[in-house]
Amino acid sequence: MKYTSKKNNFFTNKKSVFLVNEDASSYNTKKTSFLYYHDPSFNIRLFKGDSLNILAKANPESVDMIFADPPYFLSNNGISCHAGKMVSVNKGYWDKSMGVIGNYEFVKKWLALCQRVLKKDGTIWVSGTSHIIYSIGFAMQELGFKILNDIIWYKINPPPNLSCRYFTHSTEIIIWATKDKNSHHFFNYKLMKTINNGKQMKNLWSIMPPTKDEKKFGKHPTQKPITLLDRIIKASTKDGDLVLDPFCGSSTTGVAALMNNRKYIGIDMSEEYLSLSVKRLEEAMKLKYNEESLFKKG
Ligand SMILES: C[S@@+](CC[C@H](N)C(=O)[O-])C[C@H]1O[C@@H](n2cnc3c(N)ncnc32)[C@H](O)[C@@H]1O
Repeated sequence: MKYTSKKNNFFTNKKSVFLVNEDASSYNTKKTSFLYYHDPSFNIRLFKGDSLNILAKANPESVDMIFADPPYFLSNNGISCHAGKMVSVNKGYWDKSMGVIGNYEFVKKWLALCQRVLKKDGTIWVSGTSHIIYSIGFAMQELGFKILNDIIWYKINPPPNLSCRYFTHSTEIIIWATKDKNSHHFFNYKLMKTINNGKQMKNLWSIMPPTKDEKKFGKHPTQKPITLLDRIIKASTKDGDLVLDPFCGSSTTGVAALMNNRKYIGIDMSEEYLSLSVKRLEEAMKLKYNEESLFKKG
């Protein structure tokens, strides 16, 4: 395998399963979404633009697994604690609440589009905190997804609660669901048991936040740890499966997918986060390439 990387203006490979057709754009003069990065050797694609537009143009039933870490809509001028200092909780304009109904309408739209692109036996994982997870759960039930598990991600060593008026927030919920009630989902039960020292793995996962090394190219304000995505990918996909992240940020999902020999499509509307994604993905490709060359020489 040769290590290559390319930047394209737009991607219209007719053989692609997740084809995004340029002609289907609703804007005639200005392209609002395009292929930002493509590495054919590792099957990595990043699209820049609004997920709602891009998913609507993609082929139905083309994706094996989706991990979605959507806006939690918690950027409302509150405070938090970081490295012992008081900091704003604001993550960016994309995370500003549109009100309960507005947030819910957005959630239901992107979930319906994700359901459309999932293969019939495909699964979706969606993370959230109390700000959004109930809307997500309700919308999923309305749309007919079948909820398989709610994973409690316990963040070891969380920052203290500065107001001292609440319990310390130390968890996130990740809902795992199938496209619908007729899906026959894949679960790598044996591997999960093996990595849990021979015992059935529970839905309570103790996982540290991202390490310094994971943020060496710069950080995303809501970056997920690689360990979390590595477990999700190993649990629910097979070698060569296509993984989609419609709110990819710094592409934690992509790095974990690549390291596990899965194909990856990431979508984000931010140039800054896509450029961070490329740096992280290219480093992972180099690692993987060296690993494979070593194995071949072996
Ligand atoms: C919670 S963050 C994801 C972080 C990511 N899991 C990581 O590990 O870096 C959500 C991302 O969604 C992007 N975003 C928000 N609304 C979007 C939309 N409508 N279409 C595409 N991207 C969007 C934001 O730019 C942000 O990077």
